Amino acid sequence: MSTPNGVDRYGVMGYPVSHSRSPVIHRLFALQTGQRMQYELLQVSPDHLEDAIRQFERTGGRGLNITVPHKQAVIPLCSSLSDRARTAAAANTLTFDNGEIRGDNTDGIGLLRDLAVNLGIELQQRSILILGAGGATRGIVGPLLEMQPKRLLIANRSIERAEEIVERFAEDGPVFACSFNDGQLGESFDLVINATSAGFKGERPPYPVDAVSSKTVCYDLSYGLNPTPFSVWAREQGAANSIMGWGMLVEQAAESFNIWRGIRPDTAAVLKQISVTA
Ligand code: ATR
Repeated sequence: MSTPNGVDRYGVMGYPVSHSRSPVIHRLFALQTGQRMQYELLQVSPDHLEDAIRQFERTGGRGLNITVPHKQAVIPLCSSLSDRARTAAAANTLTFDNGEIRGDNTDGIGLLRDLAVNLGIELQQRSILILGAGGATRGIVGPLLEMQPKRLLIANRSIERAEEIVERFAEDGPVFACSFNDGQLGESFDLVINATSAGFKGERPPYPVDAVSSKTVCYDLSYGLNPTPFSVWAREQGAANSIMGWGMLVEQAAESFNIWRGIRPDTAAVLKQISVTA
């Protein structure tokens, strides 16, 4: 079913969601590929998530992107899951098809494409630190381990959540958990990824200073028109490079678009068009 005007309906659901640039990106993709579709910004609190998804589906919704803090909560609502969504136990892309909800996760592939293709960063045999252990981290651990890093450490404020993710991925590669003040953070990493949602709330947690040296690339999954608190912090530590997640945002969106519309947009053009400096 389409909307009354025959246009397929998509959107991004989150809480908060006003910062999201997904509508702009998907509109640019649709324009570029000649797809007739609309894409909305949907602010939905956790209490109303299930109702809002079902309502969206009933009123012509064809697909949804799911963002903070709902990526794990949508899993039980899905009728089927892709392998990557199942392994991550988190989904950022839902597709509605004849009353079925299919869950997928394009975060990991989006990050990898940005790191490897757009930025030319080598991951094999490199040491990687992820800060945070929420839905975003779940989406990126599997794909990062496939790149055969030397070590992937997940540091989280509450260590239990990091340990839970490590258990889930332990067979896939050298992945470990620790808290923010662990001794393992006393040496520098090749790549430090911020996957906490602290920046959204304007918070700057006690990020581990010794984890960053002049050889470290810092990547913030968050993005903003102004530098995020983590990217400012990374520059202050003298990181080799401090990158915000615009590239990942566009790449994960392109994967979702491809799942929904069967066509992969040219991401480089859109990344330029949203004209941001990372
Ligand atoms: P998402 O699904 O986008 O990852 P989430 O599930 O709400 O969002 O996870 C948020 C992550 O940011 C968690 O790792 C959280 O740490 P806790 O598990 O200890 O709650 C982390 N986070 C949020 N605010 C933080 C802060 N001020 N300091 C440190 N970590 C923070």
